[in-house]
Amino acid sequence: MPNRREFLHALASLGAAAAGIARATPQPRFAGEPFRLGVASGYPTPNGVVLWTRLLVDPLAPDGGIDPDAVPVRWEVARDEAMRQIVCSGAAEATPEWAHSVHVQVSGLEPSRWYWYRFSAGDAQSPIGRTRTAPAAGALPASLRFVVASCQHYEHGYFGAWRHAAADSPDLVAFLGDYIYEGFGAKNAVRSHDPGEPQTLDGYRRRYALYRTDPDLATAHAACPWILTWDDHEVDNDYAADRPEDGMPREAFLARRAAAYRAYYEHMPMPPEMRPDGPAMRIHTVLDWGRLARFAILDDRQHRSPQACLRPGQTGGSASVDPDECEALADPQRTMLGSEQERWVEAALAGSPARWNILAQQTPLARFDQKPGPGRRAWTDGWDGYPAARRRLLEFIAAQRVANPVTLAGDVHAFFVSDLKPDFEDPASPVVASELVTSSITSRAWPQAALAHFLADNPHTHFANSDFRGYLRVDLSPQQLRADLRAMDNVRTPDASCSTLASFVVEDGRPGPRPAG
Ligand SMILES: [Fe+2]
Repeated sequence: MPNRREFLHALASLGAAAAGIARATPQPRFAGEPFRLGVASGYPTPNGVVLWTRLLVDPLAPDGGIDPDAVPVRWEVARDEAMRQIVCSGAAEATPEWAHSVHVQVSGLEPSRWYWYRFSAGDAQSPIGRTRTAPAAGALPASLRFVVASCQHYEHGYFGAWRHAAADSPDLVAFLGDYIYEGFGAKNAVRSHDPGEPQTLDGYRRRYALYRTDPDLATAHAACPWILTWDDHEVDNDYAADRPEDGMPREAFLARRAAAYRAYYEHMPMPPEMRPDGPAMRIHTVLDWGRLARFAILDDRQHRSPQACLRPGQTGGSASVDPDECEALADPQRTMLGSEQERWVEAALAGSPARWNILAQQTPLARFDQKPGPGRRAWTDGWDGYPAARRRLLEFIAAQRVANPVTLAGDVHAFFVSDLKPDFEDPASPVVASELVTSSITSRAWPQAALAHFLADNPHTHFANSDFRGYLRVDLSPQQLRADLRAMDNVRTPDASCSTLASFVVEDGRPGPRPAG
C-alpha cells in the first residue's frame, strides 16, 4: 500500500503529465524551514551573476521533504545589505525534477560592484547572500582577491577553513574538485556519511545536501561568487570518462555518472546552460576579470583517456608505474582534456587579452617523481599519467607567449609551489608557467616525511607541505601575484584557528613563484 505522500506524489505526477508541466502551488506551505541549505552565487560577468538556492526541509530525505509540486520562488537583488535598494527581481520555479533547486541567471547589473540577494517562497525568506559582478571587459582593475580550495571529506573534519576563507573577503572562490566524497566509514571520523556509496540520483542528492548543512560551507557560498570544477570523488574514485574504478559495466556506470552529474548541478551555483544532459555536462568555460585575469576552468575527468598500465587483475583506477616499463604512458594519442577541450583551451589562451592567464583545474601539472634516486615512478591518475598531453599544453603556452600563465590545482591534499617546464627531465628546459597547489579543506594526506623523501628528485618544486589542511588566498595586481598558503590549526574542532604557513609571489613577465620577501 502506498502511504499518503506516495499516493499524492503519484497523483501529482499524473496531473503534471496531463498538463505537460508540473503543477505550481500558489502558496506553498513547508513542514519546516525550506532554505536550510542557504544561498549561493557563481560565474560573475560584467553585467550579471548566477543565483542559487534549493528548497528542502529534510536534507536526508531523497525529495528533501518537499511535496512533489513545482514551487514559485521570488528572487531580489539589491545594492545594499539591508535589501532596501532593490535593483532587480523576478520569479523562478523550483521543480521536483531538479530537486527544487533554482538557478537564476541575472543580467542588467553594473560591472565591478557588490550586490546582495535573497529568495522567498510562500512566507519563508532565505538568508541574504552577497555577490558581485566582474569588471567591464576593457577595464584593468588594480586588484583581485580570490580563494582556491579543494577536497572536503565530510568525515575527515569540520569545514572551519571556509569560515576563515569567507573572513578574508575574497572577490571570488575557485573550487577545484572533490566537493563530496562517495565513500563512507572513514576511521577516526569526526562525523559520518550515510553507509553505502551513492549510486542513484537519490543517493547523490542526500550526499550533497548533507555537505551543504555545514554552516561554514554555507557562509563561504553566501560570501561571494564561486567558479567550480569537479574531480573524481563527485562520482567515483579515479574514474576516467566512461571507465569506473571497479569494473562496473559501462552502461551502468554512465547511468551512475548521469545521476552524480545531475545532483552536482542541482547543488551548485552554475549557469542554466551547464545543466547536464544524461551523462554529459559541459563545465569547461572561461571567466574574465577585465583585462587583469582570464580564468580557463578545465574538466580533466569527463573526457580523459583511461589511465595507462593497470596492474594485473585491475579493471580501472590508477597505479604507480615505472615510465620505462609502461610504453602506453607516453602515447601522444592519450589525452587528459579530450581533443575538443584541448583545442578550446588553446584558443582561450591564444586569444586572451588578460595580463594573467589562470588555468583552474584539478590535478597538479608539475611532475612528481615518486622514486628517490635513479629511475622514476609516476602516478597514473594525475598529469604524470598523461605526459604527452601535458607537454603539448606547456609547449603551446611557451610558443604562443601566453601572458603570465599560472595553473591552480588541488587533489593531492598538500600545498605545492612549483615551476612548470615543457620537459621536466631536462634541467635546461625553460620555466614557462607557475603552479600553485592548494591543500585540502579537510581530506587526509600522506605524512610530510613521505613527501619530503621525494623532493630532491623534483627540483622544480620549491615548496611541498602536507601537514596542514587549508586553502590558498591569492592577491592579484597587474604587477604581481601573491599567494598566501593558509593553514588550519586542526579540523577536528569546528572553531580552529588559521594562519599563513608561507607566501609566494610571481612577478609580471617572470614565470616561476619565489618566496615573498
Ligand atoms: Fe581529494
